[in-house]
Amino acid sequence: MLPELIRKNQDSRRLRIWHAGCSIGAEPYSVAILLEQDFARELAGWEVSIIATDINRRFLGAARDGRFNDWALRSSTEEFRRACFVSEGLNWTLREPFRRRVSFQYHNLARHVFPSLANNLAAFDIIFCRNVMMYFERERMRHLVGCFRESLVEGGWMLVGPSEADIELFREFRTVNVPGTTLYQKTLNSVPRFSWSFPAAPKMEAPPVWQPAPLEINVPLPPSAVLAPPDADDELVAVRTLADHGEWKAAMYRCQALLKSEPLRAEAHFFQALLLENMGELTASEQALRRAIYLDRDYALPHYHLGLLLRRRGDKAGARRAFRNVSGILSAMDEQTVLALAEGMTIGDLKEIVPSELEMLQE
Ligand SMILES: C[S@@+](CC[C@H](N)C(=O)[O-])C[C@H]1O[C@@H](n2cnc3c(N)ncnc32)[C@H](O)[C@@H]1O
Repeated sequence: MLPELIRKNQDSRRLRIWHAGCSIGAEPYSVAILLEQDFARELAGWEVSIIATDINRRFLGAARDGRFNDWALRSSTEEFRRACFVSEGLNWTLREPFRRRVSFQYHNLARHVFPSLANNLAAFDIIFCRNVMMYFERERMRHLVGCFRESLVEGGWMLVGPSEADIELFREFRTVNVPGTTLYQKTLNSVPRFSWSFPAAPKMEAPPVWQPAPLEINVPLPPSAVLAPPDADDELVAVRTLADHGEWKAAMYRCQALLKSEPLRAEAHFFQALLLENMGELTASEQALRRAIYLDRDYALPHYHLGLLLRRRGDKAGARRAFRNVSGILSAMDEQTVLALAEGMTIGDLKEIVPSELEMLQE
């Protein structure tokens, strides 16, 4: 996309990118690094704005700090880390040249109107909104996709998460499939205005077509009846890492294998639920979440995801119940405690999110 946009915007010498639902900033900073490292010459003297928004003020604060831990940078080389970050104890702080184009602001996609010049949220060349809309109801998604389209310049591009790609929702866009993702381009008549072809695709496996294996899991035994083998935690991290890299099929097989040896491990059921959800297997995902909850009633994350999933399916009463369960579980817990296997999310974060989720259900 970028070489073509740079050619297209030669006159205005302006490039505008929006990351909606940016979390702690990894996504906008990755793009800033890409621009700085690979397009510095072409973009010299340009006005490049990367605007990153989120509903979670704590995430925005962390994003502004630009500090990441080893886990967040686990897939990068030492050389890359040293070039882009300053090492500070256990953390890595992003160097200034990669931060100057990125700004963070609070914005609630479900509440605040856009495009909005007042918010500087308009006329973008690229919009990223990845793994955010998947939790919204279909009608809200449809509305948001329309707003995003309005917020793009003609020829601008939209990128969503793997499970959010949807021909029907994006029917007014031109669809371009590339290895690992789908791009949506705003065109007036869905005919490309400029000729453009992708370079030969790197060697990659075809996207996995995963068939749910029959689940032969009986769960009536109490959790205390089984002790986890020592490497089960490593297996869970491996499943998560594979999923992070979009290796859904490998992640699912590994998770299934773990469940075979550890059928009473609530986290494994929870991960299986997330993988199933990413594959669009919502019913199986709900079942896996319920198994995780059955095995560990005080495990807040499956309750939370059950709430998101039920809300997505339009079951508002069920979703409310699930979110209230999360509040109940968290009420007595220390806010600073980091939730296991949740990318640094703390109890306090979840406590902050749940009331907004419940609020959204009142509408
Ligand atoms: C799963 S994270 C995705 C982060 C990032 N885009 C990615 O793919 O790695 C979802 C993000 O969306 C944010 N979010 C959820 N609801 C939102 C809303 N209504 N408006 C803006 N951001 C929202 C959350 O705070 C969270 O940071």
